[in-house]
Amino acid sequence: MREQVERRPDGREVRYFWSDGGGAAGTGAGGVRPASAVLVTGGAGYVAGPVVQRLAAAGLAVVVLDNLSTSSGRTLPAGVTLVRAEVGDAVALREVFSRWRIEAVFHFAADSRVGESMQQPLAYFRHNVREPLVLLEQVVAAGCPPFVFSSSAAVYGVPEAVPVAEEAHLRPVNPYGETKAHFERILHWTGLAHGLPWVALRYFNAAGADGPWEPKVPETHLIPNVLAAAAGGAPLRVFGSDYPTPDGTAVRDYVHVADLAEGHLAALRHLRAGGAGGPFNLGTGVGYSVAQVVAAVEAAVGRPVPREMAPRRAGDPPALVADPGRAQRVLGWRPRRSDLATIVRDAWTALQAAGAAAAAAARAGDTGR
Ligand code: UFG
Repeated sequence: MREQVERRPDGREVRYFWSDGGGAAGTGAGGVRPASAVLVTGGAGYVAGPVVQRLAAAGLAVVVLDNLSTSSGRTLPAGVTLVRAEVGDAVALREVFSRWRIEAVFHFAADSRVGESMQQPLAYFRHNVREPLVLLEQVVAAGCPPFVFSSSAAVYGVPEAVPVAEEAHLRPVNPYGETKAHFERILHWTGLAHGLPWVALRYFNAAGADGPWEPKVPETHLIPNVLAAAAGGAPLRVFGSDYPTPDGTAVRDYVHVADLAEGHLAALRHLRAGGAGGPFNLGTGVGYSVAQVVAAVEAAVGRPVPREMAPRRAGDPPALVADPGRAQRVLGWRPRRSDLATIVRDAWTALQAAGAAAAAAARAGDTGR
């Protein structure tokens, strides 16, 4: 990737990293009509990756705005432009909106660890609410292109009943979910006042793999940790075995990232066709306990998963399972790869490939950093 650093009149630097073969864009100056592009914040991340891949494959120009705090940006497809910046960086955003005519925005960039949010609520409100307001102001100033927001099942907290539908009360039990609920309300009022077409996709548990896997440090998610334990890493710590669930371990609705990606494209089509916005659950309607996930991994990889019981993790609800009916009816979305066996197999394959790539890089004297 080629790097370009521009110093702005106010002394700040805006950094562009052009991926191979990319970077062509109108200047927006001197009467030249800027090229249109789709803006994807947090586009280098785990859930966004398969969306960026599909947008690029469809021939759309894609501008990714990402601070690369949890990903390297190396897995972006050729031709995608990466702007390394925070979503609250008004200077970088103004530059993006003047260089390109942004025809749609996918806003993924966020801090997303439930446990961490319990320790650092102010950082979560800053990164997930305050900074994206700057993005939203630019979106409104640019004439309100369709806006697809990465929300979360965490907005529901401990639902009164599962499966949970969009009409349920939002009572988050951790700051992460609270920030997602806040931003949905901000979108609601922005839609009313300015006509912003928006959709909030409430992901349940994003899982599986669709494209290159970038291991996270620290990894907090269940399936990668179960796979790591099966591969000979540290034993899995099972957080809570006294939940009011059939086997005492917490129940979640795991949805394949490839299916999530299709949900994003369906949301954009819906908004472009003038469809009514709002929140949509993206989940399967089927929940699996931690113990069931462990069993599925053992079956898929043919190895035992060493594990130890641990106390409940702060901020974790006992069970979260989607009623995905609205996304099915309105967006025409149906999960196709979200059965647990496929999720586990795809994640295992990607993890093995990432391990092989890291080993090859280490042999070549390149640590990948
Ligand atoms: N778990 C373990 N051991 C681990 C990791 C997780 O027992 O090493 C348990 C958790 O306690 C939880 C379940 O496995 O009960 C799933 O945990 P994850 O960390 O994989 O996912 P969460 O349900 O905590 O959170 C995920 C996303 C959030 C999102 C939420 C919505 O990370 O961003 O799903 O359902 F808000």
